Amino acid sequence: MNTEICEMLGIEFPIFAFTHCRDVAAAVSRAGGMGVLGALAFSPEQLEIELAWIDEHCGGKPYGVDVVMPVKSADRDAGLHDERDLSKQLYGMIDQAHWDYADKILSDHGVPPLPEDEGSGGADPIESGVLGWTEATGTPLIDVALAHPITLLASALGPPPKEAIDRAHAQGVKVAALIGRVEQAVRDVQQGVDIIVASGYEAGGHTGDVASMVLVPDVVDAVAPVPVLAAGGIGTGRQMAAAMALGAQGVWTGSIWLTVTEANTSEIVVEKLLRSRSSDTVRSRAMTGKPARQLRTAWTEAWDAPESPGTLPMPLQFILNSKAMRRIQRSGNRELAGMPVGQIVSRMNQVRPSKDVIYEMVEEYIETMTRLGSTLQST
Ligand SMILES: Cc1cc2nc3c(=O)[nH]c(=O)nc-3n(C[C@H](O)[C@H](O)[C@H](O)COP(=O)(O)O)c2cc1C
Repeated sequence: MNTEICEMLGIEFPIFAFTHCRDVAAAVSRAGGMGVLGALAFSPEQLEIELAWIDEHCGGKPYGVDVVMPVKSADRDAGLHDERDLSKQLYGMIDQAHWDYADKILSDHGVPPLPEDEGSGGADPIESGVLGWTEATGTPLIDVALAHPITLLASALGPPPKEAIDRAHAQGVKVAALIGRVEQAVRDVQQGVDIIVASGYEAGGHTGDVASMVLVPDVVDAVAPVPVLAAGGIGTGRQMAAAMALGAQGVWTGSIWLTVTEANTSEIVVEKLLRSRSSDTVRSRAMTGKPARQLRTAWTEAWDAPESPGTLPMPLQFILNSKAMRRIQRSGNRELAGMPVGQIVSRMNQVRPSKDVIYEMVEEYIETMTRLGSTLQST
């Protein structure tokens, strides 16, 4: 295909695949799209291993890395910048009522506590659920990413720091930022971002409250000539054609990669995803403290219930959540097992290899464009 973004990044199809799984990222890039590995859940050491693996398995094709850089979070508000003490300090900011409520949800569903040696989460930021989305833990991930031959550095919830953008540019790496509102897109372009990913309300993971149909053309007009990718609710060629008709230069997808052959999604979750409908997702703060679309589960329902003490700000809610998820996974409980996923889940009905997802999307895109073109021919 021939779009500015294909040329800019050296890819065959303007299809971007966000994934936490290195096998999926490499498979998408090999198939002509752009695999983008989510770095959030990796320590810098583990990210190094994942990227070295992708370097070996992507066939020399372009790939990207995604970090999460929240403009607003509890650690930033409290002025915490020191990675060594971060986990301990953040744990100290969670009140007992919230721990007790999380415990109650789990014990109401028969989920046992973790064994003693796994219980505390410890001082390690990843183990304890702090993840890469504090300033202190996110920056080393960018350092690791930029030490590999990546083509794209993407960031969600805020642009990468200016210094990281300049470093990326000096290496010829393009920078993308996910946004949910026009003002955020304008801010990020002013910061030096090269590509805007306009993520609509339908999307899996963190989303704003504006639907793609409205958001994408508004963002395209606001930041022109900066290229825009459409995200949220895209999993077929018809949806891709719609996104391009709205002015996007390509599509940024996430959910559909959760059920591909190469994905490392757990069996229980894959089974739930395959039979879920769009209305089985909910935009909830239960996972991270910021609104994120995910499967509706007993866990999300409990945090929305009248007796809930309310969710905590990011990243405190995620610390609670990740400890609970470790217990849930261990127990194999179905009602509580969840996953960020978008409304496109209704179309995730079979397990397919990543390359089939790409080829089927491109084929249907071509058919759609041909069909639409034929409506203009005189009879
Ligand atoms: C399981 C899952 C985890 C996600 N985690 C992140 C993340 O860490 N960083 C990020 O930029 N986007 C993340 N997203 C959002 C995706 O990048 C993408 O914008 C979104 O999935 C697009 O909408 P779709 O799910 O309808 O395809 C996640 C999405 C899913 C489904």
